[in-house]
Amino acid sequence: MCGIVGYVGPRDCTDVLISALAKLEYRGYDSAGIAVFENGKIEVAKSKGRLSDLVEKMEKEGKPQGHAGIGHTRWATHGEPSDINSHPHSGRRVTIVHNGIIENYKQIKQFLIDNERTEFLSDTDTEVVAQLLDFYYNGDPIRAIRRTLHEVRGSFALGIVFADRPETIYAVRRESPLIVGQGKGEAFIASDVPAILKYTKDYYLLEHNEIVILKNGSASFCTMHGRVIDKELKTADWDEDSAEKGGYPHFMIKEIHEQPTAVKMTVTPRIEDGLPDLSECGITPETLKDINNVFIVACGTAMHAGMVGKYVIEKLARVSVTVDIASEFRYRNPLIGKGDLVIIISQSGETADSKAVLRLVKETEAKTLAIVNVKGSSIAREADMVIYTHAGPEIAVASTKAYMVQLAVMYLFAFELAYAKGRIDEAKCRDLTDQLIKMPAIIEKTVNSVVDDCQYISTKLISTSSLLYIGRGLDYALSMEGSLKLKEISYIHSESYAAGELKHGTISLITEGMPVIAVATQNTLLEKTISNIEEVKARGAMTVVICDEEADIGEEAADYLIRIPKIAEMLMPMVATVPMQLLAYYTSVNKGNDVDRPRNLAKSVTVE
Ligand code: M6R
Repeated sequence: MCGIVGYVGPRDCTDVLISALAKLEYRGYDSAGIAVFENGKIEVAKSKGRLSDLVEKMEKEGKPQGHAGIGHTRWATHGEPSDINSHPHSGRRVTIVHNGIIENYKQIKQFLIDNERTEFLSDTDTEVVAQLLDFYYNGDPIRAIRRTLHEVRGSFALGIVFADRPETIYAVRRESPLIVGQGKGEAFIASDVPAILKYTKDYYLLEHNEIVILKNGSASFCTMHGRVIDKELKTADWDEDSAEKGGYPHFMIKEIHEQPTAVKMTVTPRIEDGLPDLSECGITPETLKDINNVFIVACGTAMHAGMVGKYVIEKLARVSVTVDIASEFRYRNPLIGKGDLVIIISQSGETADSKAVLRLVKETEAKTLAIVNVKGSSIAREADMVIYTHAGPEIAVASTKAYMVQLAVMYLFAFELAYAKGRIDEAKCRDLTDQLIKMPAIIEKTVNSVVDDCQYISTKLISTSSLLYIGRGLDYALSMEGSLKLKEISYIHSESYAAGELKHGTISLITEGMPVIAVATQNTLLEKTISNIEEVKARGAMTVVICDEEADIGEEAADYLIRIPKIAEMLMPMVATVPMQLLAYYTSVNKGNDVDRPRNLAKSVTVE
């Protein structure tokens, strides 16, 4: 998704904007641009392609020199990626960068045309906003912003400069994220905290419809009506290093290695005297007792974490759990109400469909619980209760450590719910919690023990155009994530199937050498899964089996066996995930793909 930055201070503004935008590359983008006040005039430089293309262009054509400006990385929605459609966009006296979508831009454009404003250069919704701001601008920036905000519908964060207000930046947001950094004698705006960490850890959160003004190195805030607002300065607990690769070739592999720490950080503060304690997140045994049904709603990987949660919650707490894709749930008029708990899982906390579901549920009597990684994100702020996962910034588009900590929270929640409802006794709850506390060391051991196998097996996958992941029960839930991970970064078509479903159609796809990866960690279902493996093997499939180190599977049962540590069956997903992530990672590396930024994907999907 698009990224916004802005800077006012003594440094070379262009350098700051480019370095801050580089920290937002993980969001995905197809063009970039900046606008800088140079000797009191706004100078714009923009280009289709990567930031390096923009830098190259500026080297040839001249780099704007100044101390105040705005910058943008664009992920095309309205209009193809091109130099013209890149931000910033300008009206006569106003230049803006924009993240989000203006839903009624066509009507606004018509309104402007009807009022003799016809000078549109691009296909973007953003340019329409620049023109509208300009239309309302009579020398009072706050008035122009207010009048514009009254007209526009949609989600947006805007960085704005007015030609006759040199060295000053205005910004405003509705729905789309925007933070305001405060350094010594310098101030920033950015779509996300990592963009400013090189310069400062201190930042403010901008709320809906609040306006920030950056001037003389500091930030001041006001409402749309110009009323001054005092805001609390926050300090980021992520340092710049944790947003960097730390010696690994890609963020994804770094983040796979960070999983033990992420789980530890997430689980440890939620344990009190050997039992789960989510009271700090607003969840008490009393609130849990009243829950009749649980709905888990999310997108992509986060939804897959919910699938594992369903098995665990239903098994332990005997509470019915429905898992839904957010983009489906919001349009199917769901039956929810008093006594229901809707859990929204989201790494970014800004995913448009998940956010929409939260708002829809908030209009009912159901309670909402957010499981979110990014602090202060919209979903986290708007839910009734929030459990933050503490994975730190996840930069690779392919989610790994965020999924792992989402699983950890699913377990914590299931244990506490089952105990509160009297479905498990204290001893059982203690035992399960103790096993969860031990997971970081086991995950670390697993990464080290399977890395070579995965690297080797991935060389056998790179030439296939299609493969299957299969599993039963919890292994099926897991295989969904394994399959998504592999396809999103290796570009190999991959599907996950419940192993028992193969005979009902899918087995006809099996041809000589087609890879089938079976996840077989659930010993109670092992024999049945082994039969399915034999069936596909007999039809020529190249088989890979992920099973525990004691599983009764002979070496001859599959072409490749990946043995992982044996722990309680219910917790196996946290271990079995690791080889699936590594298989995806090395397949992508071996194919020479852009591992951290797969094509057509964005880290944070803030549009529908
Ligand atoms: O930020 P969210 O967790 O809400 O994002 C949801 C999905 O877009 C995300 O998990 C996506 O599927 C990942 N690229 C998967 O690796």
